[in-house]
Amino acid sequence: MKVTLIGFMGSGKSSVGQMLARKLKHNYIEMDFLVLKESGRESITEIFEKDGEAVFRKLETDVARNLQDKDNTIIATGGGIVMNKGTLDYVKSNGTVVFLDTTFRTIEKRLEGDTTRPLFQNKEKAKELYTFRKPLYAQYADITIETNNKIVEKITDEIIHLCHPQSNRESI
Ligand code: S3P
Repeated sequence: MKVTLIGFMGSGKSSVGQMLARKLKHNYIEMDFLVLKESGRESITEIFEKDGEAVFRKLETDVARNLQDKDNTIIATGGGIVMNKGTLDYVKSNGTVVFLDTTFRTIEKRLEGDTTRPLFQNKEKAKELYTFRKPLYAQYADITIETNNKIVEKITDEIIHLCHPQSNRESI
C-alpha cells in the first residue's frame, strides 16, 4: 500500500511515518530529506534564507514528481505541501492521504525551542498559516486522524486499521 502523511509542522508525520513503514515493512520516504539533498544546502533553514521559499517549493514539486507510482511506500510530506495542489497530486497518485490533525496548542508545545523550521520562528505568523492550511489538509485527505494526546504507536495502528482493515496487527 501507499500512504502519504500530511499535516502541519509538528503534527508527527515523521515519527508516525517511520513507525508505519517499520510495521508494514514498507519503504519510508521523507520529502524534506530529498528536497535538502537536491538543494545542495546544509539545512532547510539555509534554503529559505539563501534561496527563498519559492525555490524550496519548486524543489518540493520536483521531488514529488519523482515519487509518483511508488508502491509499498510511506511518504512523510512537509507541512507546506498543501500550498501547491499539483505537488500533492503527484504524491497521492494511487495512495491514501492521511491528515494528522493536531491542535495548534499541542504543536506549540511540541515545537518549543525548535530552530529548524523557518516558518515556525514567528508564532503569530505560524498560527495564521495553521488557520489558513487546516481546511486544505482536511479537504485533500482521504482519512483524518486526530492525534492530540495519542502516542505514536496508537496513531500508527489506527492508520493501519483504517487503510488496511484485513491486517492482523499482532503479526505486523
Ligand atoms: C514547512 C514544513 C517543514 C519543511 C519546511 C516548510 C511548511 O516540514 O518542509 O520548513 O511550510 O510547513 P515539517 O512539516 O516536517 O516540519
